[in-house]
Amino acid sequence: MSNIPLSLEDRVINQSLSLVNTPALPLEDKSVLQIWGRASLKGHVEISGAKNSALAIMAAALLCPGDCRLQNVPSLVDVKRMGQILTSLGVKLERNGNTLDLNSTYLKNSKAPYELVSQLRASFFVIGPMLARLGVARVPLPGGCAIGARPVDLHVRGLQLLGAEVHIEHGTVHAYVSGSSRRRLKGAKIYLDYPSVGATETLMMAATLAEGETILENVAQEPEVVDLANFCRAMGAKIRGAGTKTIIISGVPSLHSVDYSIIPDRIETGTFLVAGAITHSELTLSPVVPEHLTSVIAKLHDIGVKVIAEGSDCLRIIPGNLQAKDIKTLPYPGFPTDMQAQFMALLSLSEGDSLITETVFENRLRHFAELNRMGADIRVEGNTAIVRGVPMLSGAPVVATDLRASAALVIAGLAAEGKTTIQGLHHLDRGYENLEAKLQKLGARLQRVKDEAEPSLIE
Ligand code: UD1
Repeated sequence: MSNIPLSLEDRVINQSLSLVNTPALPLEDKSVLQIWGRASLKGHVEISGAKNSALAIMAAALLCPGDCRLQNVPSLVDVKRMGQILTSLGVKLERNGNTLDLNSTYLKNSKAPYELVSQLRASFFVIGPMLARLGVARVPLPGGCAIGARPVDLHVRGLQLLGAEVHIEHGTVHAYVSGSSRRRLKGAKIYLDYPSVGATETLMMAATLAEGETILENVAQEPEVVDLANFCRAMGAKIRGAGTKTIIISGVPSLHSVDYSIIPDRIETGTFLVAGAITHSELTLSPVVPEHLTSVIAKLHDIGVKVIAEGSDCLRIIPGNLQAKDIKTLPYPGFPTDMQAQFMALLSLSEGDSLITETVFENRLRHFAELNRMGADIRVEGNTAIVRGVPMLSGAPVVATDLRASAALVIAGLAAEGKTTIQGLHHLDRGYENLEAKLQKLGARLQRVKDEAEPSLIE
């Protein structure tokens, strides 16, 4: 392999990789989080900008041949990785606090580097805006992932219907628009077999600059899809229906600069609500969009916890006795798969038996084994977890298996008797801004330490 000469483009990518990889990401971080449980929490939580909105909107900035200013961008490893991918494509980025300035005027190549895409599935979404803007995009397949296979067939089929030639060679998706000199995609009617968030976002971005009208049917209705549509509209895109099952996009020849603020993170909000519920603590949280959490709040209510709106963007949680309740994850407005693990921790301490059915991802119940190490009584059969409520959890060394599983372990650790030590913090850092500091402010006792003296059961 080493004898094969690198093309100019590969050398450009390698150079940009070495530039954007500094400082190194904490992939090999061996830190652990120690939590001393049974603390009661109190106070107010400041909710950060939504990770999933920020990632899609950063990709959409590729559509604009000028400046985009994004406000309320959370400081997260995933956001940093997306920034590195955009940098490798030629986007200029500058971050000041939670403001991110992007300039995509000069895109220097159309190939996203494998080393970065493989670390962040959402980076595959750059294929839509790249194709729309340049008429060509090459993005490595994001590959498998801890929570399931997560294919990209819906993205690919939709792009083909928009007129792109798409081939998959050597693990990379090559997409290009042939024929016309301006190399624009063509509007089409596309029905998604499943309301995939990523495919909806990819196709919506691709269609903004296409010739003619695109009708996307059976699309995802998640608030992050609406946020992306609003961002594109602020740049001059013509999009109707985001937040419903059908999105209609009338293509425009070009988009313009914009200053845009990302919505609050509904999953971070939900995670803190569950932290309040499991520790029997009264908390307030803002800024939030209460309607984005309707299914989560309704489920908490059924479990015995009250969540009340205070003004338009603040929630207060009032604790209560926890009762078992069944949960089934579904696309929005159903119960979010991204809250399933946190609720598993909560239900493990609720009175009675609960069934949790995961329908969105095929392998997203693995945290049950770690919760069992803390004394929970959970059995998994297929895509269903049978949770038998126990009166108490006890602190233990545990390993985070994915992002939301890591949050579930933190929540369990807050309620458990004694000390919990969580490994695999790179998952947590992908999606929660300042989680430890926010919890400490509420009175939780926890700290991140470089090395754990106690022997670990898992290498
Ligand atoms: C997004 C979210 C993630 C959330 C998920 C579901 C981002 C960055 N991530 O992920 O936090 O858990 O929505 O709410 O926004 N699928 C296919 N073919 C495809 C695309 C998806 O079969 O082409 C399947 C997936 O394997 C999965 C299901 O559809 O089983 C849902 O995936 P999707 O909605 O696409 O999730 P993501 O966009 O990857």
